[in-house]
Amino acid sequence: PAPGWSITADVVVVGSGVAGLTAALRCEAAGLNTVVVTKARLDDGSTRWAQGGIAAALGEGDTPEQHLDDTLVAGVGLCDEEAVRILVTEGPDAVRRLIATGAHFDESAEGDLELTREGGHHRRRIAHAGGDATGAEISRALVEAVRARGVRTVENALVLDLLTDADGRTAGVTLHVMGEGQHDGVGAVHAPAVVLATGGMGQVFSATTNPSVSTGDGVALALRAGAEVSDLEFVQFHPTVLFLGADAEGQQPLVSEAVRGEGAHLVDADGVRFMVGQHELGELAPRDIVAKGITRRMQEQGAEHMYLDARHFGAEMWEQRFPTILAACRAHGIDPVHEPVPVAPAAHYASGGVRTDSRGRTTVPGLYACGEVACTGVHGANRLASNSLLEGLVYAERIAVDIARAGVHARVPAPVEVPQTPAHPLLAPEERFAIQRIMTDGAGVLRSAASLEEAAARLDALHAHARDALDENGKTAEPGVDTWEATNLLCVARVLVAAARLREETRGCHWREDHAERDDTAWRRHIVVTLNPDRS
Ligand code: SIN
Repeated sequence: PAPGWSITADVVVVGSGVAGLTAALRCEAAGLNTVVVTKARLDDGSTRWAQGGIAAALGEGDTPEQHLDDTLVAGVGLCDEEAVRILVTEGPDAVRRLIATGAHFDESAEGDLELTREGGHHRRRIAHAGGDATGAEISRALVEAVRARGVRTVENALVLDLLTDADGRTAGVTLHVMGEGQHDGVGAVHAPAVVLATGGMGQVFSATTNPSVSTGDGVALALRAGAEVSDLEFVQFHPTVLFLGADAEGQQPLVSEAVRGEGAHLVDADGVRFMVGQHELGELAPRDIVAKGITRRMQEQGAEHMYLDARHFGAEMWEQRFPTILAACRAHGIDPVHEPVPVAPAAHYASGGVRTDSRGRTTVPGLYACGEVACTGVHGANRLASNSLLEGLVYAERIAVDIARAGVHARVPAPVEVPQTPAHPLLAPEERFAIQRIMTDGAGVLRSAASLEEAAARLDALHAHARDALDENGKTAEPGVDTWEATNLLCVARVLVAAARLREETRGCHWREDHAERDDTAWRRHIVVTLNPDRS
């Protein structure tokens, strides 16, 4: 793309959820000239949709060590223990700083933080806001702080590719911007440090809790830039997503684990509590175990969904503690006060992503990643509930410290040349739906060698079609936000399926029908991927 405009900064933060805005605020506070670019509006990412809350050892009797233990158990042998230790020990103060930034969490009459439980936690350690609107409150507070402190922002700006200098160091990003006045069109931000905080890739599946902007843009960019990506096969399916029909597509309403944390029961079509006896924590077992329990029961009963029964909460508790979920259910004609809520698993969180060290550094010098786009090692094979907002906070702060320490002021680069044409074929926007269907059919909750092979073949055919058109007559889809999103989805889908085919075992949220057991001898290790230099 030929840039119509460009700006220069010390740091460009890509994305505006909890990770991106925290990184931006801390970089700005450290005196770094910071720009936030975000694909839609500042509060349009996944953070705003988080319900349950943010996990940290803040309650009486709780300790980081206990939080560490629960996180390691959920991650089924693949967490990086040092990364988790950083998360749980720095977490409580990071939450206190978030509160100091302006986020209001629910408190008891005595003024203590109210804490709830979710799957895999042996203690009440989830702080929440507005009952079940934690992400919306965090997003509100951070957006307000960014505006109050005058951090430069460019909205409606889809990041395209990383710019690098002759030494392979990060030199900025190219962007496609729509409807932002002086920044309209394709442009570039030149900066020696780039922080990817672009969120997840839930839109790679047909039904997901993620908003439509979650198209794996950061992972795709990092792959094209030659960075290492790890653990993409570990896609977490949230067990209890409001079931709106087998053909429902796009973002689906979440029914928080906190509803089970407060005592809701998971029941089958006969009203039987099928999770009881399957795990010591029953309905509050780690998320992968509950998602598997639900899927198995659905198969046994030939049912499209199970039920979450919390009629015993009564109207007052529903209204005060879970107003968002209550409203979403009622908007779809279901009244949880009087009837069980139909639920089924849907894609929720990418436990893998762009590989980083404990300071958020990727394998490309000057390129950082935090939040869902990153793979810091804290989640392993399955993220513990409500650890993601915490990870975004803690690792964003560490990145700001590292960038400030690296003294990037001294290195603001001369703008590097921006490529004139896309270096890879672009996909037509409507292929997004084909990719989603392929992934849901072949690489969803339950996978097998056959289902993954078919998914890989169908994805390869989409890729080959786009590549041949470019090679044979220089044709590629008209560049635009939809086109780039479809292209990024295909890129991450192919890597995800390749990793899932390789991992011939069942571990955490990767469930292979044909390899039903965990294999610690062969597979207690990570699948790390880089793209070939020809970006195929
Ligand atoms: C939920 O509220 O169930 C979601 C929490 C999470 O994904 O960590």
